[in-house]
Amino acid sequence: MSYDDAIEALSKDALKFVKNNSVLGLGSGRAATAFVKELGVHIKRKKLNIRAVPTSLQIKLIAEQAGIHLISADQIEKIDVVFDGADQIDSKKYLIKGGGGALLRENILISSAGKIVIMADESKFVKNFTRTVPVEVHPFARNTVRKFIKKLGGKPQIRTIERGYPFITENGNIIYDCDFGTIKSPGSLALKIKQIPGVVEAGIFQRKPDVIYKAKENGKFEII
Ligand code: A5P
Repeated sequence: MSYDDAIEALSKDALKFVKNNSVLGLGSGRAATAFVKELGVHIKRKKLNIRAVPTSLQIKLIAEQAGIHLISADQIEKIDVVFDGADQIDSKKYLIKGGGGALLRENILISSAGKIVIMADESKFVKNFTRTVPVEVHPFARNTVRKFIKKLGGKPQIRTIERGYPFITENGNIIYDCDFGTIKSPGSLALKIKQIPGVVEAGIFQRKPDVIYKAKENGKFEII
C-alpha cells in the first residue's frame, strides 16, 4: 500500500461531490490527475451531464483522454466544485499552490467556486508553511519584482527546467520560487506579494477549502 493507493481511493470517494448538471474545475498535478481519471469513468457509467474547466494543458490532456466535456472559464461565471491538489496546507487551512506552475488559473477557479475539494498526501500538512512560495511574474518585471521580494525578506529563485531554461507558464510568465523560511502570517504575506507591480499571482491561497482529503502512506485516507 502507498500514497498512490490512497489517492486512488480518495478520488473515488470524492466523486460523491459531483452532482448532475454541474460545472467542475479541474486542478493540476498528480492528485488532480487521479481524480480526473475516476471522474471520466463515473460520468460515463452514470450518464451525467458535466462540464469541466481545466486549469492547465497538463490536466486538459488527461481530461480529454477521459472523455470529459471541457469548456473555458471565460464561458461561465461560476464553478460548482473545484477538485485540486496542493503543495502545502497549514494549520489554518491556507494553501501553497503553484508547484506545477498553474497557480493563476487555479486561483481564478478556486476564488469563484461554490465548493473546494483539496486532495494531498500527509507529507504536505504542516503547522506553518516551510516550503518556497511560487510567484508568477510578468517577464518585464523580472528584476523589479525580485528586488521587492527581497525587501519582504524572501529569497527568490527563478524556476528553470532542463539545462537551465526558464520555466514559462501557460500565460507567458516566469515563476520565482521564493524562500521566506517559516511563514507565520501567510495572509498578510500573500497580500504584500500581490501588491507588487508585475506580480501576476502569488502561490499562497487564502480561500479555505470546504473538504480536505489527507492521503496516508498505508493506502488509507482521512477527510478533514
Ligand atoms: C499546480 O500548479 C499545483 O498547484 C498542484 O496542484 C500542486 O503542485 C499539487 O500537485 P501534486 O498533486 O502533483 O502534488
